[in-house]
Amino acid sequence: MNGLRSSTLGVLALTAVVLTAGCERPPVESIQRGYRGTGMVQVFNPRTQAVVLDRNAAPEVTLPVPPGGPLAKDVYKNVKVLTDLDVGAFTRLMVAMTNWVSPEQGCNYCHAEGNLESDVVYAKVVARRMLQMNRHINQDWANHVGLTGVTCYTCHRGQPVPAFVWFADPGPPQAAGLTRGRAGQNTPAVSVGLTSLPYDPFTPYLLENRPIRVQAAGALPDPKTNGGIMHAEWTYGLMHHFSNSLGVNCTYCHNTRSFASWEGPPQRATAYHGIEMLRDLNANYLSPLKATYPAQRLGPLGDAPKANCATCHQGLFKPLAGAQMLQDYPALAKVATLVVEAPTPEPTVQGDLVIIFFAVGSFDLHAAAPSAMQGLVEKLKANPKSRATISGYHSATGDTASNQELAKNRALAVQGALKNAGIADNRVVLERPIVVQANVSGEDPTARRVEVTVK
Ligand code: HEC
Ligand code: HEC
Ligand code: HEC
Ligand code: HEC
Repeated sequence: MNGLRSSTLGVLALTAVVLTAGCERPPVESIQRGYRGTGMVQVFNPRTQAVVLDRNAAPEVTLPVPPGGPLAKDVYKNVKVLTDLDVGAFTRLMVAMTNWVSPEQGCNYCHAEGNLESDVVYAKVVARRMLQMNRHINQDWANHVGLTGVTCYTCHRGQPVPAFVWFADPGPPQAAGLTRGRAGQNTPAVSVGLTSLPYDPFTPYLLENRPIRVQAAGALPDPKTNGGIMHAEWTYGLMHHFSNSLGVNCTYCHNTRSFASWEGPPQRATAYHGIEMLRDLNANYLSPLKATYPAQRLGPLGDAPKANCATCHQGLFKPLAGAQMLQDYPALAKVATLVVEAPTPEPTVQGDLVIIFFAVGSFDLHAAAPSAMQGLVEKLKANPKSRATISGYHSATGDTASNQELAKNRALAVQGALKNAGIADNRVVLERPIVVQANVSGEDPTARRVEVTVK
């Protein structure tokens, strides 16, 4: 009797376990993102969220190195992409790349032992293209990645092959005859959140430019605006991938009143740029690497590994929880700001204050400086007891001693110009150089200035 009862309880307990195995243990948290009652809510499970956040922690920043020194392309033999970096910045990036992509294997994951210039290892050839792709993302896709930007770590997370890549998918092997022809769907697939939707929505939407549409724009199916039922299914497949990759519900991007309407959360527009970005990366950078990879890296249909939303996002709506790694690695940011200099601004006169600007690393006086100082010189001559004070500024980036030397030489150049105009050296006071905090790009023209005034 007793035995029977406990086994019945056992069965009941087992049934309960089986029935709830597919669910997540409560409590879950919800965040309201629109009016109550409209379903605009995000549901998070704090426990699974903790795992995702753990996976998305940013790595430690590689020690910075002071700028200056010769360019890497002039010192090494085979530098084709990082031609704008000095040796210090180049080496720092090599160290960071090793930490991000091949921390266990080290430099020789990409380099032939004892021959750094050689291109025989395919990983180095791939990495060179990755460098171009990474800069291209940060430079040309700011409408998606913003100032947060991406580094190799965003996708690689300490592994040579990122955790989430995709290939064209022929589906599971199937018998011939009547059961043939799954039409690329009807089997639970991880790529589309274990639904039976088409398991490869990536080829049509993240490589090719097919319209992502459910609602027809016209009465009849039109391949330009909507491709019929197949596109509706592909679209839902892709949307499941979006939700899973970002760890969000559909309402993170849509107002469920109308899925097609753009009058919803602004995140949908960001996602739209993400789709366009991936089409560009997959078609122009990742697919063409097919010829470079060894056979075991290619997919079942012989195509190269490609990226989707999960490659960067890895379960969070901002990769690495929004950590702005790019700030610490300007070598992967815009190329333009590193090589193109803004022209030196004209001197400005503000009453008794004259501000004279200089070119990067130079103490040559601007041609317009003497005429800008003319009023000041007249004032000094009219009042023999007055004195001119000169203060130099320099940026906080770079070597302090050489910055101070430069600031001093600039002040002396201005003193020389005053002497030419008839103001003796003993009427000029030189003040200590003042340090100006650098801006993000590291070069601020207002830091390269000298101010002159009458006291
Ligand atoms: C993930 C791949 C990768 C790793 C890891 C890597 N490198 Fe490189 N390395 C490259 C690429 C790509 C280039 C060529 C860059 C270019 O063309 O602008 C390069 C070029 C170089 C060069 C210039 C060689 C020449 O003569 O042209 C040196 C030096 C170098 N790396 C040092 C290192 C050191 C030291 C390490 C380890 C701390 C390292 N690299 C790790 C990919 C890598
Ligand atoms: C947008 C995501 C993304 C970024 C950013 C990115 N990679 Fe990759 N990388 C990939 C994908 C996808 C592959 C293909 C994986 C494979 O080889 O199977 C790959 C492959 C590689 C490989 C070949 C590994 C192998 O063994 O096949 C190297 C080396 C590499 N990347 C280096 C880099 C470096 C260095 C950077 C930063 C300058 C970088 N990647 C940035 C997505 C990215
Ligand atoms: C990260 C943002 C994001 C998430 C999450 C998301 N979507 Fe979308 N969805 C988009 C974007 C962007 C488009 C438009 C693509 C285009 O026009 O090229 C779109 C298009 C659609 C369309 C097509 C509308 C039309 O014009 O026919 C439907 C339907 C849709 N999504 C449903 C869903 C469902 C259901 C979910 C949840 C499973 C979801 N979406 C999750 C961003 C998102
Ligand atoms: C190359 C890496 C990369 C890929 C691939 C990528 N994203 Fe992003 N995404 C980012 C970064 C970085 C940010 C953070 C931008 C910021 O902080 O402004 C971001 C932000 C977003 C946001 C805004 C989140 C918010 O709350 O403001 C959405 C939505 C988004 N991505 C959707 C997508 C979708 C959908 C895809 C696939 C079609 C995708 N992303 C592919 C890197 C990527």
